Amino acid sequence: MTVHIGLVGTGTVGGGCIDIIQNHKDDFKRHLGVDIELTQVCSRNPEQAIAHGVADRYTQDYHTIINNPDIDIVIELIGGTTVAHDVVCDALRAGKNVVTANKALMATCGHEVMSLADQADKEIAFEAAVGGGIPIIDPLKHSLIANEDMTVMGIVNGTTNYMLTRMDQDGMSYEDALREAQEKGFAEADPSADVDGYDAAAKIAILASIAFNSRVNMDEVPTEGIRSISPVDLQSARDMGYCVKLLAIAHRTEKGIDVRVHPTMLPLEHPLASVNGVFNAIYVIGDAVGETMFFGEGAGAGPAASAVMGDVLEVARHVAAGVSPLVGCTCTDTLPLMPMEELTTKYYLRFVVEDCSGVLASTADVFARHGVSVHSVIQRGAKSGKSVDLVYVTHTAQERDIRAVIEEICSLDGVLVNHTRPTVIRVES
Ligand code: HSE
Repeated sequence: MTVHIGLVGTGTVGGGCIDIIQNHKDDFKRHLGVDIELTQVCSRNPEQAIAHGVADRYTQDYHTIINNPDIDIVIELIGGTTVAHDVVCDALRAGKNVVTANKALMATCGHEVMSLADQADKEIAFEAAVGGGIPIIDPLKHSLIANEDMTVMGIVNGTTNYMLTRMDQDGMSYEDALREAQEKGFAEADPSADVDGYDAAAKIAILASIAFNSRVNMDEVPTEGIRSISPVDLQSARDMGYCVKLLAIAHRTEKGIDVRVHPTMLPLEHPLASVNGVFNAIYVIGDAVGETMFFGEGAGAGPAASAVMGDVLEVARHVAAGVSPLVGCTCTDTLPLMPMEELTTKYYLRFVVEDCSGVLASTADVFARHGVSVHSVIQRGAKSGKSVDLVYVTHTAQERDIRAVIEEICSLDGVLVNHTRPTVIRVES
Protein backbone atom coordinates (compact mmCIF):
# COMPACT_ATOMS: atom_id res chain seq x y z
CA MET A 1 0.00 0.00 0.00
CA THR A 2 1.15 3.54 -0.74
CA VAL A 3 0.96 6.03 2.14
CA HIS A 4 0.72 9.63 0.93
CA ILE A 5 2.56 12.38 2.76
CA GLY A 6 2.02 16.15 2.70
CA LEU A 7 4.87 18.24 4.08
CA VAL A 8 4.36 21.79 5.36
CA GLY A 9 7.61 23.69 5.91
CA THR A 10 10.82 23.24 3.93
CA GLY A 11 13.44 24.79 6.23
CA THR A 12 16.41 22.82 7.51
CA VAL A 13 14.38 20.03 9.10
CA GLY A 14 11.81 19.90 6.28
CA GLY A 15 14.61 19.79 3.72
CA GLY A 16 16.26 16.98 5.69
CA CYS A 17 12.99 14.99 5.64
CA ILE A 18 12.61 15.47 1.86
CA ASP A 19 16.15 14.18 1.35
CA ILE A 20 15.57 11.15 3.57
CA ILE A 21 12.34 10.25 1.75
CA GLN A 22 13.94 10.69 -1.70
CA ASN A 23 17.06 8.71 -0.78
CA HIS A 24 15.56 5.91 1.31
CA LYS A 25 12.05 5.41 -0.06
CA ASP A 26 12.98 2.05 -1.61
CA ASP A 27 14.74 0.89 1.57
CA PHE A 28 11.65 1.71 3.64
CA LYS A 29 9.51 -0.30 1.23
CA ARG A 30 11.88 -3.26 1.39
CA HIS A 31 12.43 -3.20 5.16
CA LEU A 32 9.04 -2.10 6.46
CA GLY A 33 6.70 -3.00 3.62
CA VAL A 34 5.43 0.58 3.44
CA ASP A 35 5.57 2.61 0.26
CA ILE A 36 5.99 6.28 1.25
CA GLU A 37 5.00 8.86 -1.35
CA LEU A 38 5.80 12.53 -0.79
CA THR A 39 2.71 13.78 -2.57
CA GLN A 40 2.72 17.51 -1.84
CA VAL A 41 5.09 20.04 -0.32
CA CYS A 42 4.02 23.43 1.02
CA SER A 43 6.40 26.29 1.70
CA ARG A 44 6.58 30.06 1.60
CA ASN A 45 9.82 29.62 -0.36
CA PRO A 46 9.45 27.89 -3.74
CA GLU A 47 13.22 28.02 -4.18
CA GLN A 48 13.60 25.65 -1.20
CA ALA A 49 11.26 23.15 -2.87
CA ILE A 50 13.19 23.53 -6.12
CA ALA A 51 16.50 23.02 -4.32
CA HIS A 52 15.26 19.69 -2.91
CA GLY A 53 13.89 18.50 -6.26
CA VAL A 54 10.18 18.65 -5.38
CA ALA A 55 9.06 21.61 -7.52
CA ASP A 56 6.59 19.30 -9.31
CA ARG A 57 4.51 18.86 -6.14
CA TYR A 58 4.92 22.34 -4.66
CA THR A 59 2.06 24.43 -3.28
CA GLN A 60 2.10 27.75 -1.46
CA ASP A 61 -1.22 27.10 0.29
CA TYR A 62 -1.34 24.48 3.03
CA HIS A 63 -5.08 24.05 2.46
CA THR A 64 -4.21 22.27 -0.78
CA ILE A 65 -2.64 19.55 1.34
CA ILE A 66 -5.37 19.49 3.99
CA ASN A 67 -8.06 19.23 1.28
CA ASN A 68 -6.27 16.54 -0.72
CA PRO A 69 -8.25 13.34 -0.03
CA ASP A 70 -5.25 11.16 -0.94
CA ILE A 71 -3.01 12.51 1.80
CA ASP A 72 -2.77 10.28 4.88
CA ILE A 73 -0.10 12.06 6.95
CA VAL A 74 0.63 15.80 7.26
CA ILE A 75 4.10 16.74 8.52
CA GLU A 76 4.11 20.20 10.14
CA LEU A 77 7.56 21.78 10.34
CA ILE A 78 6.79 25.51 10.42
CA GLY A 79 7.09 25.89 14.19
CA GLY A 80 5.42 28.44 16.46
CA THR A 81 1.83 28.60 17.61
CA THR A 82 0.09 30.70 14.96
CA VAL A 83 0.02 29.29 11.40
CA ALA A 84 1.43 25.98 12.64
CA HIS A 85 -1.48 25.73 15.09
CA ASP A 86 -3.95 26.09 12.21
CA VAL A 87 -2.09 23.60 10.02
CA VAL A 88 -2.06 20.94 12.76
CA CYS A 89 -5.64 21.51 13.95
CA ASP A 90 -7.09 21.79 10.42
CA ALA A 91 -5.25 18.65 9.36
CA LEU A 92 -6.65 16.66 12.31
CA ARG A 93 -10.15 18.03 11.69
CA ALA A 94 -9.81 16.93 8.06
CA GLY A 95 -9.01 13.41 9.25
CA LYS A 96 -5.27 13.42 8.60
CA ASN A 97 -2.62 11.93 10.84
CA VAL A 98 -0.07 14.55 11.91
CA VAL A 99 3.64 14.45 12.65
CA THR A 100 5.16 17.61 14.10
CA ALA A 101 8.41 18.82 15.69
CA ASN A 102 6.59 21.73 17.30
CA LYS A 103 7.45 21.89 21.03
CA ALA A 104 5.82 25.29 21.59
CA LEU A 105 2.52 24.05 20.16
CA MET A 106 2.53 20.80 22.12
CA ALA A 107 3.58 22.57 25.34
CA THR A 108 0.91 25.29 25.10
CA CYS A 109 -1.97 23.72 23.13
CA GLY A 110 -1.32 20.04 23.91
CA HIS A 111 -4.81 19.45 25.27
CA GLU A 112 -6.52 20.95 22.21
CA VAL A 113 -4.32 19.10 19.73
CA MET A 114 -4.51 15.73 21.48
CA SER A 115 -8.31 16.07 21.89
CA LEU A 116 -8.71 16.79 18.17
CA ALA A 117 -6.61 13.73 17.35
CA ASP A 118 -8.68 11.55 19.69
CA GLN A 119 -11.94 12.88 18.22
CA ALA A 120 -10.73 12.20 14.69
CA ASP A 121 -9.31 8.78 15.72
CA LYS A 122 -6.03 9.88 14.12
CA GLU A 123 -2.45 9.98 15.35
CA ILE A 124 -0.39 12.96 16.38
CA ALA A 125 3.29 12.14 16.80
CA PHE A 126 5.88 14.62 18.08
CA GLU A 127 9.12 12.82 18.95
CA ALA A 128 11.22 15.65 17.46
CA ALA A 129 9.69 18.21 19.85
CA VAL A 130 12.03 17.16 22.69
CA GLY A 131 15.72 16.35 22.45
CA GLY A 132 16.02 16.57 18.65
CA GLY A 133 17.15 13.15 17.45
CA ILE A 134 17.05 11.50 20.89
CA PRO A 135 14.21 9.01 21.29
CA ILE A 136 12.46 9.97 24.55
CA ILE A 137 8.76 10.49 23.88
CA ASP A 138 8.32 7.07 22.35
CA PRO A 139 10.24 5.36 25.21
CA LEU A 140 8.12 7.19 27.80
CA LYS A 141 4.90 6.25 26.00
CA HIS A 142 5.84 2.67 25.18
CA SER A 143 9.01 1.05 26.51
CA LEU A 144 8.80 2.53 30.04
CA ILE A 145 5.02 2.29 30.37
CA ALA A 146 5.27 -0.32 33.15
CA ASN A 147 6.87 2.19 35.51
CA GLU A 148 4.34 3.65 37.92
CA ASP A 149 6.66 6.32 39.22
CA MET A 150 9.31 8.24 37.36
CA THR A 151 11.79 11.04 37.83
CA VAL A 152 12.81 12.90 34.70
CA MET A 153 15.87 15.16 34.64
CA GLY A 154 17.12 16.58 31.40
CA ILE A 155 19.70 18.75 29.75
CA VAL A 156 17.35 19.64 26.93
CA ASN A 157 18.80 22.89 25.62
CA GLY A 158 21.99 22.54 23.65
CA THR A 159 22.73 26.27 23.40
CA THR A 160 22.92 26.84 27.14
CA ASN A 161 24.77 23.58 27.67
CA TYR A 162 27.35 24.74 25.14
CA MET A 163 27.68 28.11 26.88
CA LEU A 164 28.01 26.59 30.36
CA THR A 165 30.59 24.12 29.06
CA ARG A 166 32.70 26.94 27.57
CA MET A 167 32.39 29.00 30.76
CA ASP A 168 33.35 25.99 32.88
CA GLN A 169 36.15 24.49 30.83
CA ASP A 170 37.63 27.68 29.36
CA GLY A 171 36.72 30.32 31.94
CA MET A 172 34.79 32.25 29.28
CA SER A 173 32.45 35.03 30.41
CA TYR A 174 28.71 34.67 29.88
CA GLU A 175 28.82 37.41 27.21
CA ASP A 176 31.67 35.79 25.26
CA ALA A 177 30.08 32.34 25.46
CA LEU A 178 26.81 33.77 24.15
CA ARG A 179 28.56 35.61 21.32
CA GLU A 180 30.35 32.44 20.29
CA ALA A 181 27.12 30.40 20.43
CA GLN A 182 25.49 32.99 18.18
CA GLU A 183 28.43 32.97 15.74
CA LYS A 184 28.21 29.18 15.53
CA GLY A 185 24.48 29.39 14.80
CA PHE A 186 23.34 27.70 18.03
CA ALA A 187 21.78 30.78 19.61
CA GLU A 188 19.39 33.19 17.93
CA ALA A 189 20.05 36.94 17.68
CA ASP A 190 17.43 37.21 20.43
CA PRO A 191 18.67 34.40 22.70
CA SER A 192 15.88 34.66 25.26
CA ALA A 193 14.16 31.33 24.50
CA ASP A 194 17.39 29.51 25.24
CA VAL A 195 19.16 31.56 27.95
CA ASP A 196 15.99 32.35 29.92
CA GLY A 197 14.99 28.68 29.98
CA TYR A 198 11.72 28.85 27.99
CA ASP A 199 12.83 26.29 25.40
CA ALA A 200 13.66 23.86 28.22
CA ALA A 201 10.36 24.66 29.97
CA ALA A 202 8.38 23.70 26.86
CA LYS A 203 10.26 20.43 26.62
CA ILE A 204 9.86 19.42 30.28
CA ALA A 205 6.15 20.36 30.13
CA ILE A 206 5.77 17.81 27.32
CA LEU A 207 7.81 15.12 29.11
CA ALA A 208 6.03 15.67 32.44
CA SER A 209 2.61 15.42 30.78
CA ILE A 210 3.56 12.01 29.41
CA ALA A 211 5.46 10.73 32.45
CA PHE A 212 2.69 11.60 34.92
CA ASN A 213 -0.37 11.17 32.67
CA SER A 214 -1.43 14.70 33.60
CA ARG A 215 -1.29 17.82 31.43
CA VAL A 216 1.44 20.33 32.23
CA ASN A 217 1.60 23.53 30.16
CA MET A 218 4.85 25.40 29.74
CA ASP A 219 3.55 28.59 31.38
CA GLU A 220 3.01 26.57 34.58
CA VAL A 221 6.68 25.57 34.79
CA PRO A 222 8.73 27.73 37.20
CA THR A 223 11.61 28.77 34.97
CA GLU A 224 14.97 30.43 35.58
CA GLY A 225 17.68 30.76 32.95
CA ILE A 226 21.44 31.15 33.03
CA ARG A 227 21.88 34.94 32.68
CA SER A 228 23.17 35.34 36.23
CA ILE A 229 25.73 32.52 36.02
CA SER A 230 29.35 33.58 35.77
CA PRO A 231 32.66 31.67 35.70
CA VAL A 232 33.06 32.25 39.45
CA ASP A 233 29.98 30.06 40.03
CA LEU A 234 31.36 27.31 37.86
CA GLN A 235 34.70 27.51 39.65
CA SER A 236 33.02 27.46 43.07
CA ALA A 237 30.99 24.44 41.98
CA ARG A 238 34.14 22.60 40.80
CA ASP A 239 35.85 23.34 44.12
CA MET A 240 32.93 21.60 45.83
CA GLY A 241 32.93 18.61 43.42
CA TYR A 242 29.99 19.82 41.37
CA CYS A 243 29.22 21.16 37.89
CA VAL A 244 26.44 23.56 36.87
CA LYS A 245 23.83 22.53 34.30
CA LEU A 246 20.55 24.08 33.18
CA LEU A 247 18.28 21.23 34.23
CA ALA A 248 14.66 20.56 33.42
CA ILE A 249 13.28 18.45 36.25
CA ALA A 250 9.98 16.65 36.83
CA HIS A 251 9.00 14.24 39.54
CA ARG A 252 5.98 13.33 41.57
CA THR A 253 5.72 14.40 45.19
CA GLU A 254 3.00 14.18 47.82
CA LYS A 255 2.31 17.86 47.14
CA GLY A 256 1.86 17.36 43.39
CA ILE A 257 4.10 17.26 40.34
CA ASP A 258 7.34 19.07 41.02
CA VAL A 259 8.35 20.48 37.64
CA ARG A 260 10.89 23.25 37.10
CA VAL A 261 13.77 24.59 35.01
CA HIS A 262 16.79 26.28 36.59
CA PRO A 263 20.57 26.17 36.81
CA THR A 264 21.44 23.24 39.03
CA MET A 265 24.60 22.06 40.76
CA LEU A 266 25.15 18.37 40.07
CA PRO A 267 27.79 16.13 41.66
CA LEU A 268 30.55 15.49 39.11
CA GLU A 269 29.86 11.76 39.29
CA HIS A 270 26.22 12.19 38.21
CA PRO A 271 25.59 10.72 34.71
CA LEU A 272 24.38 14.12 33.45
CA ALA A 273 27.56 15.87 34.61
CA SER A 274 29.55 14.52 31.68
CA VAL A 275 27.07 15.76 29.07
CA ASN A 276 28.88 18.72 27.54
CA GLY A 277 28.72 21.05 24.57
CA VAL A 278 25.55 21.10 22.47
CA PHE A 279 24.62 17.55 23.49
CA ASN A 280 21.35 16.84 25.26
CA ALA A 281 20.54 14.02 27.64
CA ILE A 282 17.46 12.95 29.53
CA TYR A 283 18.00 10.90 32.68
CA VAL A 284 14.96 8.88 33.73
CA ILE A 285 14.59 6.85 36.90
CA GLY A 286 11.65 4.47 36.93
CA ASP A 287 10.45 2.43 39.89
CA ALA A 288 10.80 -0.73 37.82
CA VAL A 289 13.57 0.01 35.33
CA GLY A 290 15.91 1.93 37.64
CA GLU A 291 18.29 4.43 36.04
CA THR A 292 18.29 5.08 32.29
CA MET A 293 19.80 7.86 30.21
CA PHE A 294 19.00 8.98 26.68
CA PHE A 295 21.80 10.94 25.05
CA GLY A 296 22.39 12.60 21.70
CA GLU A 297 22.15 15.67 19.52
CA GLY A 298 19.24 17.84 20.52
CA ALA A 299 19.08 20.06 17.47
CA GLY A 300 20.05 20.30 13.83
CA ALA A 301 18.66 19.13 10.52
CA GLY A 302 19.86 15.52 10.68
CA PRO A 303 18.82 14.71 14.26
CA ALA A 304 15.43 16.43 13.98
CA ALA A 305 14.66 14.89 10.56
CA SER A 306 15.66 11.48 11.97
CA ALA A 307 13.05 11.85 14.75
CA VAL A 308 10.37 13.21 12.39
CA MET A 309 10.88 10.40 9.89
CA GLY A 310 10.83 7.80 12.67
CA ASP A 311 7.35 9.06 13.56
CA VAL A 312 6.27 9.23 9.91
CA LEU A 313 7.26 5.62 9.26
CA GLU A 314 5.59 4.36 12.44
CA VAL A 315 2.34 6.18 11.62
CA ALA A 316 2.60 5.02 7.99
CA ARG A 317 2.85 1.41 9.18
CA HIS A 318 -0.35 1.86 11.17
CA VAL A 319 -2.07 3.47 8.17
CA ALA A 320 -0.92 0.64 5.89
CA ALA A 321 -2.10 -1.96 8.42
CA GLY A 322 -5.43 -0.15 8.85
CA VAL A 323 -5.11 0.07 12.64
CA SER A 324 -6.43 2.86 14.85
CA PRO A 325 -3.96 4.94 16.86
CA LEU A 326 -2.32 2.66 19.41
CA VAL A 327 -1.72 5.43 21.94
CA GLY A 328 -3.78 8.62 22.03
CA CYS A 329 -3.73 11.28 24.69
CA THR A 330 -2.28 9.76 27.87
CA CYS A 331 -3.27 12.66 30.18
CA THR A 332 -6.01 10.80 32.00
CA ASP A 333 -5.29 12.32 35.44
CA THR A 334 -5.39 15.92 36.66
CA LEU A 335 -2.63 16.09 39.23
CA PRO A 336 -1.86 19.40 40.95
CA LEU A 337 1.53 21.04 40.46
CA MET A 338 3.66 21.49 43.55
CA PRO A 339 4.08 25.23 44.24
CA MET A 340 7.75 26.18 43.89
CA GLU A 341 7.70 27.72 47.41
CA GLU A 342 7.24 24.18 48.76
CA LEU A 343 10.51 22.96 47.25
CA THR A 344 13.09 21.73 49.74
CA THR A 345 16.66 21.39 48.55
CA LYS A 346 20.13 22.79 49.18
CA TYR A 347 20.99 26.20 47.80
CA TYR A 348 24.06 27.96 46.45
CA LEU A 349 23.66 31.74 46.75
CA ARG A 350 26.18 34.31 45.55
CA PHE A 351 25.86 37.95 46.56
CA VAL A 352 28.08 40.73 45.23
CA VAL A 353 28.87 42.76 48.34
CA GLU A 354 31.11 45.60 49.47
CA ASP A 355 34.34 44.31 50.97
CA CYS A 356 33.96 46.04 54.34
CA SER A 357 33.49 45.16 57.95
CA GLY A 358 30.07 44.02 59.13
CA VAL A 359 28.69 42.82 55.78
CA LEU A 360 29.43 39.15 56.43
CA ALA A 361 27.92 39.32 59.92
CA SER A 362 24.77 41.12 58.79
CA THR A 363 24.13 38.67 55.92
CA ALA A 364 24.79 35.64 58.13
CA ASP A 365 22.30 36.99 60.65
CA VAL A 366 19.52 36.96 58.02
CA PHE A 367 19.98 33.23 57.42
CA ALA A 368 19.79 32.58 61.15
CA ARG A 369 16.63 34.63 61.61
CA HIS A 370 14.83 32.71 58.84
CA GLY A 371 15.90 29.35 60.27
CA VAL A 372 18.09 28.51 57.26
CA SER A 373 21.14 26.51 58.27
CA VAL A 374 24.35 27.45 56.46
CA HIS A 375 26.68 24.68 55.31
CA SER A 376 29.52 26.94 54.18
CA VAL A 377 30.35 30.53 53.36
CA ILE A 378 33.27 31.59 51.21
CA GLN A 379 34.39 35.04 50.11
CA ARG A 380 35.84 35.15 46.62
CA GLY A 381 37.26 38.00 44.62
CA ALA A 382 40.27 40.28 44.25
CA LYS A 383 41.55 41.97 47.39
CA SER A 384 42.09 45.20 45.51
CA GLY A 385 38.53 45.41 44.24
CA LYS A 386 35.77 47.26 46.08
CA SER A 387 33.35 44.34 45.83
CA VAL A 388 33.67 40.64 46.47
CA ASP A 389 31.51 37.59 45.92
CA LEU A 390 30.03 36.15 49.06
CA VAL A 391 29.08 32.54 48.37
CA TYR A 392 26.74 30.75 50.76
CA VAL A 393 25.79 27.09 50.52
CA THR A 394 22.91 26.03 52.73
CA HIS A 395 21.81 22.76 54.22
CA THR A 396 18.41 21.57 53.02
CA ALA A 397 16.02 24.51 53.23
CA GLN A 398 12.63 25.52 51.92
CA GLU A 399 12.34 27.71 48.83
CA ARG A 400 9.94 30.02 50.67
CA ASP A 401 12.54 30.75 53.37
CA ILE A 402 15.34 31.17 50.84
CA ARG A 403 13.29 33.76 48.94
CA ALA A 404 12.72 35.67 52.17
CA VAL A 405 16.44 35.49 52.96
CA ILE A 406 17.36 36.82 49.50
CA GLU A 407 14.92 39.73 49.68
CA GLU A 408 16.14 40.75 53.11
CA ILE A 409 19.82 40.47 52.24
CA CYS A 410 19.26 42.48 49.06
CA SER A 411 17.84 45.32 51.18
CA LEU A 412 20.95 45.50 53.42
CA ASP A 413 23.54 48.24 53.07
CA GLY A 414 26.63 47.02 51.28
CA VAL A 415 24.86 44.32 49.27
CA LEU A 416 23.83 44.49 45.61
CA VAL A 417 26.92 46.29 44.42
CA ASN A 418 26.21 47.65 40.91
CA HIS A 419 22.61 46.40 41.36
CA THR A 420 23.81 42.86 40.69
CA ARG A 421 21.05 40.45 41.65
CA PRO A 422 22.21 37.38 43.58
CA THR A 423 22.87 34.15 41.76
CA VAL A 424 20.74 31.24 42.95
CA ILE A 425 21.68 27.67 42.05
CA ARG A 426 19.79 24.76 43.51
CA VAL A 427 21.95 21.82 44.51
CA GLU A 428 20.99 18.22 43.59
CA SER A 429 22.56 15.59 45.73
N1 HSE B 1 17.41 26.04 20.69
C1 HSE B 1 17.37 24.65 21.06
C2 HSE B 1 18.67 24.27 21.75
C3 HSE B 1 17.16 23.71 19.92
O1 HSE B 1 19.58 25.08 21.85
O2 HSE B 1 18.76 23.14 22.18
C4 HSE B 1 15.73 23.68 19.47
O3 HSE B 1 14.92 23.10 20.44
